[in-house]
Amino acid sequence: MIDARLTLDPAFRLGPVDRRLFGSFVEHMGRSVYTGVFEPGHPAADELGLRTDVLDLAREMGVSVVRYPGGNFVSNYRWEDGVGPRESRPTRLDLAWRSIESNQFGLGEYMAWVRRLGAEPMLAVNLGTRGLTEAVELLEYCNYPGGTALSDRRVKNGDHDPYGIKLWCLGNEMDGPWQIGHQTAHEYGRIAAETGRAMRRLDPGVELVACGSSGRHMPTFGSWEATVLEQCYDQVDYISLHAYYEERDGDTASFLGSAVDMDAFIDEVIATADHVKARTRSGRKLRLSFDEWNVWYQQRFGGEASLEWRPTPRLIEDEYSVLDAVVVGSYLISLLGHADRVSIGCQAQLANVIGPIRTEPGGPAWRQTTYWPFALTARLARGDALRVEPESPLTDTAAYGPVPVLTAAASLDLQAGAAALFAVNRSLDEPLTLTVDLRALPAARLRTHRVLADDDLRATNTQADPDRIVPRQLTGRVDDGRLTVSLPPASWNVLELSV
Ligand code: AHR
Repeated sequence: MIDARLTLDPAFRLGPVDRRLFGSFVEHMGRSVYTGVFEPGHPAADELGLRTDVLDLAREMGVSVVRYPGGNFVSNYRWEDGVGPRESRPTRLDLAWRSIESNQFGLGEYMAWVRRLGAEPMLAVNLGTRGLTEAVELLEYCNYPGGTALSDRRVKNGDHDPYGIKLWCLGNEMDGPWQIGHQTAHEYGRIAAETGRAMRRLDPGVELVACGSSGRHMPTFGSWEATVLEQCYDQVDYISLHAYYEERDGDTASFLGSAVDMDAFIDEVIATADHVKARTRSGRKLRLSFDEWNVWYQQRFGGEASLEWRPTPRLIEDEYSVLDAVVVGSYLISLLGHADRVSIGCQAQLANVIGPIRTEPGGPAWRQTTYWPFALTARLARGDALRVEPESPLTDTAAYGPVPVLTAAASLDLQAGAAALFAVNRSLDEPLTLTVDLRALPAARLRTHRVLADDDLRATNTQADPDRIVPRQLTGRVDDGRLTVSLPPASWNVLELSV
């Protein structure tokens, strides 16, 4: 038996939990769009061809922001191909994923979908094969009310009111040699600064995200952020982070500990951004947009070069286990634990392509295991994030050295009289007894303790058995201002408290 403890105290306030932390991502890739969110002719499709079964699941999941249209795809995308009458839209080759793109889903469909979902749009502009001019033209099409060529084109295409899109990504993963139109940090920093400046002239209300590194493992990580931000710090509001993890060579302990890498990545980007703030004497503090994160079994993907030119291929449709869900829960804990600087998070992606939602063409949609930690965190993390300062034993991992067995984060919404504690026990074989000091919240009571865990860590949800893995309820007790609960081995837990 192992023990850990932490404290919930309203005085240890980290910052408000931004709803944008619970974002997702829809890219023109594989079956993310086609037969994912969009499938005309499907029994659940609405008049636009949007799958209402997927919309319902995404709504239930609490998705707050959806990044679109890529990803790598955006760096060779012409947004004009996806607007106007569907019958006259061109079919193109997508160089990013060697796919044949019909353009039957485009900007208007995305905006209708995101509105039906009740989420906020987040659009990426192509700074790979295109640049400043096209970015400003796209912004004019989207946000200018009317009376100009491009805004009138939107009106003519059926959208009278401007879209009012606030969040814009200045390109995607421009540090990656795989990116179409990949640039050096110096080149990209200049383009990002000038594109941002021009976009703000058109619409001063936009919030701009500069591309950070595609991962902490990139050889240019750190210097990329510093060089890019030296040039565009005052033109942007966020710097992006992307991270994907997988279990490698059966090393489950390292995989369970991988959120420590995410924590370090965030801390290092904050340090780099603040270094540039000091050097440029800027009065603004940059925030972070973790706009791609997830478990992705990249070793199973043969890479783009292995693909054949096809429309809507089945690409990276990872089937997630309960272990993957526990790890996904630990990434959400990492984001919440940095709520003072990370304002946007997008799990990549939403449907089929490494998604928490799976669909079959003409068939059902179901929740993968990874759906659950996202949905419950999005629903219960409200109000302010709290510092919880866990005291935990350590466990050795080959990839990350010693990591705490317990990782945890909490939120407190005093107005609603609710608190939530999110916790992962990383031990593979021992339950963990967690003691929560609640003396600063004397009226606190445990409402529910839900857990994701299973004797079979490899169990998944499938079309035949879509509810094999769902959260289970456990109990706990409060004595003398201390709550004691037992967290099963390799489990993700959420404790809901009334306070
Ligand atoms: O989400 C899949 C891909 O991962 C995205 O297109 C890209 O931005 C990242 O490398």
